[in-house]
Amino acid sequence: MSGIRPTGFLHLGNYFGALRNYIRMQDEYECFFMVADLHSLTTHPDTKELKSNVQHVLSENIACGLDPDKVALYCQSHIYETSELYLYLNMLAYKGELEKTTTFKDKVRSQPENVNAGLLTYPVLQTADILLHRASLVPVGKDQEQHLEMSRTFTKRFNHRYGNVFPEPKAFNYGSELVRVPALDGSGKMSKSENQFATLYLSDDDELIRKKVIKAKTDTGPLAPGSSKPEAIGNIFLLLKLVSDPSVINKFETDYNNGSIRYGDMKKQLAEDMIKFITPIRQKAEAIRNDENYLKKVMEKGAEKARKSAKATMELVRQAMGLNY
Ligand code: TRP
Repeated sequence: MSGIRPTGFLHLGNYFGALRNYIRMQDEYECFFMVADLHSLTTHPDTKELKSNVQHVLSENIACGLDPDKVALYCQSHIYETSELYLYLNMLAYKGELEKTTTFKDKVRSQPENVNAGLLTYPVLQTADILLHRASLVPVGKDQEQHLEMSRTFTKRFNHRYGNVFPEPKAFNYGSELVRVPALDGSGKMSKSENQFATLYLSDDDELIRKKVIKAKTDTGPLAPGSSKPEAIGNIFLLLKLVSDPSVINKFETDYNNGSIRYGDMKKQLAEDMIKFITPIRQKAEAIRNDENYLKKVMEKGAEKARKSAKATMELVRQAMGLNY
Protein backbone atom coordinates (compact mmCIF):
# COMPACT_ATOMS: atom_id res chain seq x y z
CA MET A 1 0.00 0.00 0.00
CA SER A 2 1.26 3.46 -0.76
CA GLY A 3 0.08 6.97 -1.49
CA ILE A 4 1.13 10.05 -3.42
CA ARG A 5 -0.05 13.53 -2.50
CA PRO A 6 -1.54 15.45 -5.43
CA THR A 7 0.42 18.59 -4.62
CA GLY A 8 2.82 18.72 -7.53
CA PHE A 9 3.69 17.12 -10.82
CA LEU A 10 5.59 13.84 -10.80
CA HIS A 11 9.28 14.03 -11.59
CA LEU A 12 12.09 11.66 -12.43
CA GLY A 13 12.85 11.15 -8.73
CA ASN A 14 9.27 10.00 -8.09
CA TYR A 15 9.53 7.64 -11.05
CA PHE A 16 12.80 5.94 -10.11
CA GLY A 17 12.21 6.20 -6.34
CA ALA A 18 8.59 5.06 -6.09
CA LEU A 19 6.62 4.42 -9.26
CA ARG A 20 9.03 1.91 -10.70
CA ASN A 21 8.66 -0.13 -7.50
CA TYR A 22 4.87 0.07 -7.68
CA ILE A 23 4.91 -1.21 -11.22
CA ARG A 24 7.03 -4.16 -10.31
CA MET A 25 5.02 -4.91 -7.17
CA GLN A 26 1.75 -5.06 -9.09
CA ASP A 27 2.77 -8.41 -10.55
CA GLU A 28 3.92 -9.88 -7.25
CA TYR A 29 1.51 -8.62 -4.58
CA GLU A 30 -2.03 -7.50 -3.96
CA CYS A 31 -1.57 -3.73 -4.19
CA PHE A 32 -3.43 -0.62 -3.06
CA PHE A 33 -2.15 2.67 -4.47
CA MET A 34 -3.94 5.86 -3.75
CA VAL A 35 -3.91 9.58 -4.38
CA ALA A 36 -3.68 11.17 -0.93
CA ASP A 37 -6.04 14.07 -1.49
CA LEU A 38 -7.04 14.29 2.20
CA HIS A 39 -3.42 14.67 3.20
CA SER A 40 -3.05 17.53 0.78
CA LEU A 41 -5.75 19.46 2.68
CA THR A 42 -3.33 19.84 5.60
CA THR A 43 -1.21 22.17 3.49
CA HIS A 44 -3.50 23.17 0.59
CA PRO A 45 -6.94 24.02 2.02
CA ASP A 46 -7.99 25.68 -1.25
CA THR A 47 -9.64 22.90 -3.30
CA LYS A 48 -10.15 24.77 -6.57
CA GLU A 49 -7.43 22.82 -8.36
CA LEU A 50 -7.70 19.59 -6.41
CA LYS A 51 -9.74 17.71 -9.01
CA SER A 52 -7.40 18.55 -11.83
CA ASN A 53 -4.36 17.73 -9.68
CA VAL A 54 -5.85 14.35 -8.75
CA GLN A 55 -6.51 13.65 -12.43
CA HIS A 56 -2.97 14.68 -13.26
CA VAL A 57 -1.34 12.32 -10.76
CA LEU A 58 -3.67 9.47 -11.68
CA SER A 59 -2.99 9.76 -15.39
CA GLU A 60 0.76 9.93 -14.84
CA ASN A 61 0.64 6.81 -12.69
CA ILE A 62 -1.22 4.94 -15.39
CA ALA A 63 1.01 6.31 -18.15
CA CYS A 64 4.05 4.99 -16.27
CA GLY A 65 2.61 1.49 -16.30
CA LEU A 66 0.37 1.09 -13.27
CA ASP A 67 -2.49 -1.11 -14.37
CA PRO A 68 -5.89 -0.27 -12.80
CA ASP A 69 -6.99 -3.82 -13.56
CA LYS A 70 -4.16 -5.31 -11.52
CA VAL A 71 -4.07 -2.92 -8.56
CA ALA A 72 -6.60 -0.91 -6.62
CA LEU A 73 -5.84 2.60 -7.84
CA TYR A 74 -8.07 4.97 -5.94
CA CYS A 75 -8.63 8.29 -4.34
CA GLN A 76 -8.29 8.55 -0.55
CA SER A 77 -11.38 10.72 -0.01
CA HIS A 78 -13.58 8.11 -1.72
CA ILE A 79 -13.04 5.67 1.14
CA TYR A 80 -15.00 6.98 4.12
CA GLU A 81 -13.77 4.15 6.35
CA THR A 82 -10.42 5.96 6.40
CA SER A 83 -11.91 8.71 8.53
CA GLU A 84 -13.36 6.25 11.01
CA LEU A 85 -10.09 4.41 11.52
CA TYR A 86 -8.25 7.74 11.69
CA LEU A 87 -10.52 8.78 14.56
CA TYR A 88 -9.89 5.60 16.56
CA LEU A 89 -6.16 5.81 15.96
CA ASN A 90 -6.11 9.43 17.06
CA MET A 91 -7.04 8.27 20.56
CA LEU A 92 -3.85 6.21 20.60
CA ALA A 93 -1.51 8.96 19.37
CA TYR A 94 0.05 11.37 21.86
CA LYS A 95 0.48 15.09 21.32
CA GLY A 96 4.11 14.92 22.46
CA GLU A 97 5.22 12.33 19.92
CA LEU A 98 3.27 14.00 17.10
CA GLU A 99 4.89 17.36 17.83
CA LYS A 100 8.32 15.77 17.55
CA THR A 101 7.74 14.63 13.94
CA THR A 102 10.22 16.21 11.53
CA THR A 103 7.63 16.95 8.84
CA PHE A 104 5.38 18.63 11.42
CA LYS A 105 8.22 20.83 12.68
CA ASP A 106 9.07 21.74 9.07
CA LYS A 107 5.47 22.79 8.40
CA VAL A 108 5.29 24.83 11.61
CA ARG A 109 8.22 26.76 10.22
CA SER A 110 6.97 27.00 6.61
CA GLN A 111 3.27 27.73 7.26
CA PRO A 112 3.07 29.35 10.74
CA GLU A 113 -0.31 30.86 9.82
CA ASN A 114 -1.91 27.43 9.41
CA VAL A 115 -0.66 24.98 12.04
CA ASN A 116 -3.88 22.95 12.02
CA ALA A 117 -4.68 19.75 13.93
CA GLY A 118 -4.68 17.76 10.68
CA LEU A 119 -1.05 18.68 10.19
CA LEU A 120 -0.26 17.42 13.68
CA THR A 121 -2.03 14.11 13.10
CA TYR A 122 -0.80 13.66 9.52
CA PRO A 123 1.08 10.46 10.47
CA VAL A 124 -2.12 9.08 12.06
CA LEU A 125 -4.05 9.53 8.82
CA GLN A 126 -1.23 7.87 6.93
CA THR A 127 -1.40 4.97 9.38
CA ALA A 128 -5.14 4.67 8.78
CA ASP A 129 -4.50 4.45 5.01
CA ILE A 130 -2.13 1.55 5.53
CA LEU A 131 -3.99 -0.35 8.25
CA LEU A 132 -7.28 -0.07 6.41
CA HIS A 133 -5.98 -2.82 4.12
CA ARG A 134 -3.92 -4.53 6.83
CA ALA A 135 -0.98 -3.92 4.53
CA SER A 136 2.48 -5.00 5.60
CA LEU A 137 4.66 -3.60 2.80
CA VAL A 138 4.75 0.12 2.10
CA PRO A 139 6.91 1.19 -0.85
CA VAL A 140 8.11 4.67 0.13
CA GLY A 141 11.28 6.71 -0.07
CA LYS A 142 13.63 7.65 2.73
CA ASP A 143 11.69 10.82 3.55
CA GLN A 144 8.81 8.67 4.83
CA GLU A 145 10.85 6.55 7.22
CA GLN A 146 9.83 8.48 10.32
CA HIS A 147 6.14 8.33 9.39
CA LEU A 148 6.41 4.57 8.95
CA GLU A 149 8.15 4.24 12.30
CA MET A 150 5.19 6.07 13.85
CA SER A 151 2.76 3.83 11.99
CA ARG A 152 4.43 0.86 13.61
CA THR A 153 4.14 2.48 17.03
CA PHE A 154 0.41 3.14 16.59
CA THR A 155 -0.11 -0.36 15.21
CA LYS A 156 1.61 -1.97 18.20
CA ARG A 157 -0.42 0.19 20.55
CA PHE A 158 -3.68 -0.81 18.89
CA ASN A 159 -2.80 -4.49 18.87
CA HIS A 160 -1.63 -4.37 22.47
CA ARG A 161 -4.79 -2.67 23.69
CA TYR A 162 -7.46 -4.32 21.56
CA GLY A 163 -5.97 -7.55 20.23
CA ASN A 164 -3.93 -8.54 17.22
CA VAL A 165 -5.75 -7.06 14.25
CA PHE A 166 -2.92 -5.54 12.21
CA PRO A 167 0.43 -6.66 10.83
CA GLU A 168 3.23 -4.14 11.47
CA PRO A 169 3.82 -2.16 8.28
CA LYS A 170 7.36 -1.93 6.93
CA ALA A 171 8.95 0.34 4.34
CA PHE A 172 9.61 -1.68 1.21
CA ASN A 173 11.95 -1.36 -1.75
CA TYR A 174 13.69 -3.69 -4.15
CA GLY A 175 16.96 -3.31 -2.16
CA SER A 176 19.72 -3.06 -4.71
CA GLU A 177 17.68 -0.79 -6.90
CA LEU A 178 17.40 2.16 -4.55
CA VAL A 179 18.72 4.91 -6.80
CA ARG A 180 19.52 8.50 -6.14
CA VAL A 181 18.17 10.87 -8.77
CA PRO A 182 20.32 14.00 -8.46
CA ALA A 183 19.08 17.51 -9.26
CA LEU A 184 20.58 19.21 -12.29
CA ASP A 185 22.09 22.06 -10.27
CA GLY A 186 24.17 19.81 -8.02
CA SER A 187 22.02 20.77 -5.01
CA GLY A 188 20.89 17.33 -3.83
CA LYS A 189 18.03 15.31 -5.28
CA MET A 190 15.21 16.17 -7.63
CA SER A 191 12.28 17.46 -5.64
CA LYS A 192 8.74 18.71 -6.17
CA SER A 193 9.15 21.95 -4.31
CA GLU A 194 12.74 23.09 -4.67
CA ASN A 195 14.43 24.58 -7.74
CA GLN A 196 12.02 23.61 -10.53
CA PHE A 197 14.63 24.17 -13.18
CA ALA A 198 16.85 21.52 -11.61
CA THR A 199 14.10 18.90 -11.72
CA LEU A 200 12.84 17.00 -14.77
CA TYR A 201 9.08 16.47 -14.66
CA LEU A 202 7.25 13.71 -16.49
CA SER A 203 5.15 16.50 -18.03
CA ASP A 204 8.10 18.55 -19.36
CA ASP A 205 8.08 19.00 -23.14
CA ASP A 206 11.10 18.32 -25.34
CA GLU A 207 12.30 21.92 -25.51
CA LEU A 208 12.09 22.36 -21.76
CA ILE A 209 14.00 19.12 -21.15
CA ARG A 210 16.75 20.31 -23.53
CA LYS A 211 16.95 23.67 -21.81
CA LYS A 212 17.15 22.20 -18.35
CA VAL A 213 19.71 19.54 -19.20
CA ILE A 214 22.00 21.90 -21.14
CA LYS A 215 22.04 24.19 -18.10
CA ALA A 216 23.04 21.36 -15.76
CA LYS A 217 26.03 22.15 -13.63
CA THR A 218 29.44 21.00 -14.94
CA ASP A 219 32.99 22.33 -14.62
CA THR A 220 35.92 23.01 -16.93
CA GLY A 221 36.71 19.34 -17.44
CA PRO A 222 38.91 16.69 -15.84
CA LEU A 223 42.20 18.20 -14.71
CA ALA A 224 44.23 15.11 -15.50
CA PRO A 225 43.39 11.83 -17.21
CA GLY A 226 42.07 9.33 -14.69
CA SER A 227 41.15 11.88 -12.00
CA SER A 228 38.07 11.16 -9.90
CA LYS A 229 34.76 12.81 -10.76
CA PRO A 230 33.59 15.95 -8.97
CA GLU A 231 30.03 15.64 -7.64
CA ALA A 232 28.31 17.63 -10.40
CA ILE A 233 29.91 15.45 -13.10
CA GLY A 234 29.14 12.28 -11.18
CA ASN A 235 25.52 13.43 -11.13
CA ILE A 236 25.38 13.72 -14.92
CA PHE A 237 26.71 10.18 -15.17
CA LEU A 238 24.10 9.01 -12.66
CA LEU A 239 21.34 10.51 -14.81
CA LEU A 240 22.84 9.01 -17.95
CA LYS A 241 22.74 5.59 -16.26
CA LEU A 242 19.00 5.95 -15.75
CA VAL A 243 18.06 6.48 -19.37
CA SER A 244 20.96 5.85 -21.78
CA ASP A 245 22.35 2.75 -23.49
CA PRO A 246 25.34 1.10 -21.80
CA SER A 247 27.38 1.81 -24.95
CA VAL A 248 26.73 5.54 -24.55
CA ILE A 249 27.73 5.48 -20.90
CA ASN A 250 30.90 3.54 -21.73
CA LYS A 251 31.87 6.05 -24.38
CA PHE A 252 31.63 8.98 -21.98
CA GLU A 253 33.36 7.04 -19.19
CA THR A 254 36.26 6.35 -21.55
CA ASP A 255 36.33 9.97 -22.71
CA TYR A 256 36.35 11.11 -19.11
CA ASN A 257 39.17 8.81 -18.14
CA ASN A 258 41.43 9.86 -21.01
CA GLY A 259 40.61 13.52 -20.51
CA SER A 260 38.95 14.08 -23.89
CA ILE A 261 35.37 14.41 -22.66
CA ARG A 262 33.23 17.32 -23.86
CA TYR A 263 30.54 18.04 -21.33
CA GLY A 264 28.45 19.89 -23.92
CA ASP A 265 28.24 16.71 -25.99
CA MET A 266 27.47 14.59 -22.97
CA LYS A 267 24.61 16.89 -21.94
CA LYS A 268 23.22 16.95 -25.47
CA GLN A 269 23.18 13.17 -25.47
CA LEU A 270 21.59 13.11 -22.02
CA ALA A 271 18.90 15.57 -23.15
CA GLU A 272 18.00 13.42 -26.17
CA ASP A 273 17.88 10.22 -24.10
CA MET A 274 15.74 11.94 -21.46
CA ILE A 275 13.37 13.07 -24.20
CA LYS A 276 13.16 9.51 -25.49
CA PHE A 277 12.27 8.36 -21.99
CA ILE A 278 9.87 11.12 -20.93
CA THR A 279 8.00 11.90 -24.17
CA PRO A 280 5.98 8.67 -24.46
CA ILE A 281 4.97 8.96 -20.79
CA ARG A 282 3.97 12.61 -21.21
CA GLN A 283 1.94 11.91 -24.34
CA LYS A 284 0.19 8.94 -22.81
CA ALA A 285 -0.60 10.88 -19.64
CA GLU A 286 -2.02 13.76 -21.69
CA ALA A 287 -4.30 11.43 -23.59
CA ILE A 288 -5.53 9.80 -20.39
CA ARG A 289 -6.03 13.15 -18.69
CA ASN A 290 -8.26 14.31 -21.48
CA ASP A 291 -10.50 11.27 -21.10
CA GLU A 292 -12.42 12.25 -17.99
CA ASN A 293 -14.85 9.35 -18.35
CA TYR A 294 -12.08 6.82 -18.33
CA LEU A 295 -10.48 8.38 -15.26
CA LYS A 296 -13.79 8.38 -13.45
CA LYS A 297 -14.19 4.70 -14.21
CA VAL A 298 -10.68 3.96 -12.98
CA MET A 299 -11.37 5.78 -9.71
CA GLU A 300 -14.70 4.02 -9.24
CA LYS A 301 -13.21 0.62 -9.87
CA GLY A 302 -10.30 1.35 -7.51
CA ALA A 303 -12.62 2.66 -4.81
CA GLU A 304 -14.74 -0.45 -5.07
CA LYS A 305 -11.76 -2.70 -4.40
CA ALA A 306 -10.47 -0.46 -1.62
CA ARG A 307 -13.89 -0.22 0.04
CA LYS A 308 -14.29 -3.97 0.08
CA SER A 309 -10.99 -4.39 1.86
CA ALA A 310 -11.70 -1.43 4.18
CA LYS A 311 -15.13 -2.73 5.17
CA ALA A 312 -13.72 -6.12 6.13
CA THR A 313 -11.01 -4.49 8.23
CA MET A 314 -13.42 -2.14 9.99
CA GLU A 315 -15.62 -5.07 10.99
CA LEU A 316 -12.59 -6.58 12.72
CA VAL A 317 -11.66 -3.26 14.29
CA ARG A 318 -15.10 -2.57 15.75
CA GLN A 319 -15.28 -6.08 17.04
CA ALA A 320 -11.80 -5.92 18.61
CA MET A 321 -12.65 -2.58 20.22
CA GLY A 322 -15.94 -3.87 21.54
CA LEU A 323 -17.93 -1.42 19.48
CA ASN A 324 -20.16 -4.10 18.00
CA TYR A 325 -23.25 -3.58 20.11
N1 TRP B 1 2.74 10.98 3.29
C1 TRP B 1 3.08 10.42 2.02
C2 TRP B 1 3.96 11.41 1.24
O1 TRP B 1 3.96 12.57 1.53
C3 TRP B 1 1.86 10.10 1.20
C4 TRP B 1 1.00 9.05 1.84
C5 TRP B 1 -0.26 9.22 2.34
C6 TRP B 1 1.33 7.68 2.03
N2 TRP B 1 -0.73 8.06 2.82
C7 TRP B 1 0.20 7.09 2.66
C8 TRP B 1 2.45 6.90 1.74
C9 TRP B 1 0.18 5.74 3.01
C10 TRP B 1 2.45 5.55 2.11
C11 TRP B 1 1.32 4.98 2.74
O2 TRP B 1 4.63 11.01 0.32
